[in-house]
Amino acid sequence: MVLPRPIVFGNWKMHGLRVESEALAGALAERAKRLTATLGVFPPFTVLGEVAARLTGTGIMVGGQDCHERPKGAYTGSISAAMLRDVDASAVIVGHSERRHGLGESDALVRTKAETALAEGLLTVLCIGETEAQWLSDETLAVLDAQLTGSWPAGATAEQVIVAYEPVWAVGTGRTPALDDIERSHAAIRHRLQRLAVDGADVAILYGGSVKADNAAEIMAVPGVAGVLVGGASLDAAGFWSIYQAGGGA
Ligand code: PGA
Repeated sequence: MVLPRPIVFGNWKMHGLRVESEALAGALAERAKRLTATLGVFPPFTVLGEVAARLTGTGIMVGGQDCHERPKGAYTGSISAAMLRDVDASAVIVGHSERRHGLGESDALVRTKAETALAEGLLTVLCIGETEAQWLSDETLAVLDAQLTGSWPAGATAEQVIVAYEPVWAVGTGRTPALDDIERSHAAIRHRLQRLAVDGADVAILYGGSVKADNAAEIMAVPGVAGVLVGGASLDAAGFWSIYQAGGGA
């Protein structure tokens, strides 16, 4: 099933003890009476099961922020795709810049993670994005092309993978590219997707990086932008809900 748009996903990152997560999930559940678009949250592993249980029946998707590249095994501290499914997650983020750049994850590793997640039936949110230095030296489109080609899971379709374009320099900084630049990057990603996937024209491409209630509408109105991946601003239910509404969601 291709998801209704806009697609608004909240990445909670390493935020949310049980009491906070329960309150945030509860506040979102109260607002989500009948969803007209797609809303999803990606809580920390420790609260994933509880958040998924709290959101059952609301239509709000729940996903993990990462998974291991192997289905199971002696990998201390890691979480498998099957474990995510086991606590009722239906999606997973792979290749977030905080893992690519913070933890040195390569395109090849990200691709293996995505393939493992797909084999488990998880919707995979594949993140790509250029660093500030690459941005300044006008390498953005080449970097996006190389990352997408290197980390796209073999044989994947638009129903299985969503691409999130997140400039590393825009994540958590309060800075965003000009709307024209977002459009240009999305068009380049689309161009490559049409070569990578049989239905590459239908793959949803999200924008992420300092999306807030006051810039969400204009970003989601950019041609080619199917929705947003929100970090910091997804931790406040009212603010996150206004982002969802800014894209036309009710
Ligand atoms: P931010 O994070 O909205 O806090 O910039 C976005 C992300 O990392 O997905």
